[in-house]
Amino acid sequence: MKAIEIRNKFLDFFKNHNHSVIPSAPLIPENDPSVLFNTAGMQPLVPYLLGETHPAGTRLCDYQKCVRTVDIDEVGDNRHLTYFEMLGNWSLGDYFKDEAIAMSYEFLTKELGIPAEKLSVTCFAGDEDCPRDTVSAEAWKKVGISEERIYFYGKSDNWWIAGEEGPCGPDSEMFYDTGKPACGPDCQPSCDCGKYVEIWNNVFMEYFKDKNGYTKLKNKNVDTGLGLERMAFLLQGKETPFDTELFKAVMDKLEELQKVDNIRSRRVIADHLRSSIMIICDGGRPSNVDRGYILRRLIRRMIRHMNNIQIDLNQLANLVDINIEALKDMYPDLVKNKNVIKDVIVAEKDKFVKTLNHGEKEFKKQIKKLEGTKVVPGNVVFRLYDTYGFPPEVTEELAQENGMEIDMEEFNKLFKQHQEKSRQGSAQKFKGGLAEQTETTIAYHTATHLLHEALREILGEHVKQSGSNITEERLRFDFSHPQKMTKEEIKQVEDLVNEQIQKDLKVTCEEMSYEDAKNSGAIGLFTDKYGDRVKVYTIGDFSKEICGGPHVTHTGNMGRFKIKKEESSSSGIRRIKAVLIKE
Ligand code: ALA
Repeated sequence: MKAIEIRNKFLDFFKNHNHSVIPSAPLIPENDPSVLFNTAGMQPLVPYLLGETHPAGTRLCDYQKCVRTVDIDEVGDNRHLTYFEMLGNWSLGDYFKDEAIAMSYEFLTKELGIPAEKLSVTCFAGDEDCPRDTVSAEAWKKVGISEERIYFYGKSDNWWIAGEEGPCGPDSEMFYDTGKPACGPDCQPSCDCGKYVEIWNNVFMEYFKDKNGYTKLKNKNVDTGLGLERMAFLLQGKETPFDTELFKAVMDKLEELQKVDNIRSRRVIADHLRSSIMIICDGGRPSNVDRGYILRRLIRRMIRHMNNIQIDLNQLANLVDINIEALKDMYPDLVKNKNVIKDVIVAEKDKFVKTLNHGEKEFKKQIKKLEGTKVVPGNVVFRLYDTYGFPPEVTEELAQENGMEIDMEEFNKLFKQHQEKSRQGSAQKFKGGLAEQTETTIAYHTATHLLHEALREILGEHVKQSGSNITEERLRFDFSHPQKMTKEEIKQVEDLVNEQIQKDLKVTCEEMSYEDAKNSGAIGLFTDKYGDRVKVYTIGDFSKEICGGPHVTHTGNMGRFKIKKEESSSSGIRRIKAVLIKE
């Protein structure tokens, strides 16, 4: 069964079970600075998992384009990919464990025709936060999974959360037995030997986690994720996703073009090519930061592997064509964006070729000097990075090819120092900009902190800043919150802010390490972009927030705070415009 048929069967099946089919969100999340790419089907649905009403109802299904780069080094084995498609069904406070499990089982055995005895399942073993999931285990037994193929594991295996905070819960995973011999008497689904491949995950999302621990969500939700590429290769009786129609044409072409045989390199190229194509199609462009850097890394790593197996880099455009041809039925947008995709990849290639030539020469020169040692020192790795644009991963791969390792720890240290220097540089720049800060904009800046904290006190701690903009006339503040604020809530927030202004609170600033700031309970954007020292502004005993400043010294003369508008900014994000009225 081809991947597209699996996708269609999945969507049809859930449609027949009264689910609305919703479109895949773009790979690049809108207004969510906390993640670089969508990494799971649930990500665009977070506001609804938190309780907001979804316009399409309480039963949803979709396919979601995902990129995960944490496993980038595993690409080349039999199942890891950086881009993949996740099929998912959701219950937003509708059905729960019994029905979700019955549907999963029916889909796998009846629609996909997987024999029940090829399936094993896992359930949450229970701990102090959440009881043992015997309900799911019973549900599996009821549909026909025998007891010896039901396993219980703890949080590390059977608990799902995207990142550190957010909606989460125990999960129940389904594994496909490839029929390979067990690697030993203890071989189980949790084992990595490749006998068992995880194919689907049902998360029973009824908790919310933040730094204070777990609380119950408003609804008992179900969030599921089925990895399409894995399912395709298993159903096709193939060894890896690279043997399916999704990759085959590119893999064959690579085999034809290569002068040195290396299957791992071919897989890395095929994987990174597809991911780059999908990211560019959704608007990503290579750069040195965040998403752009990941794309740059994917393209550059692909090129390194093309060089490894001696494929002419002028073949890249051709490979893009071949890949798009294989994927166009699944992603019709690719055809429209084909030329842009090619242009971006080829331009990045040209840039990197220059870098590589210089860098590889430099690398060779350096390792000659290091003759006899096994470790490339951090300063060499850093120099290659800083002067030649060589990502440390590339240096690491080069080193490995020469039987060496790199001193990553030392590199990280130097990298941090470098970041600190650029932070000071931008602080300097900011100081320049300070001249342009007026009394009014500075007051709005402080008002923004008061508003942020007031929203968290009135609406709850899920409120997080997602954007802020200040002019002479007003402040604008975007924050995560699943629904429209009521008149009452708006009034409470205004009152709370005005109360702080009237108290004439003292505003103080302290510089501390990022860790200390976090531990002190300061809110704000916890990106480590600015090195490991941050400024924390404290307003009386009311607010504590990481911020570059500047702020008023006392809140007393800021004026009266008034919210002029509260509106939706995008899905799950509200926007407030507010003014300070001088009286
Ligand atoms: N969100 C769950 C996962 O990604 C379904 O596995």
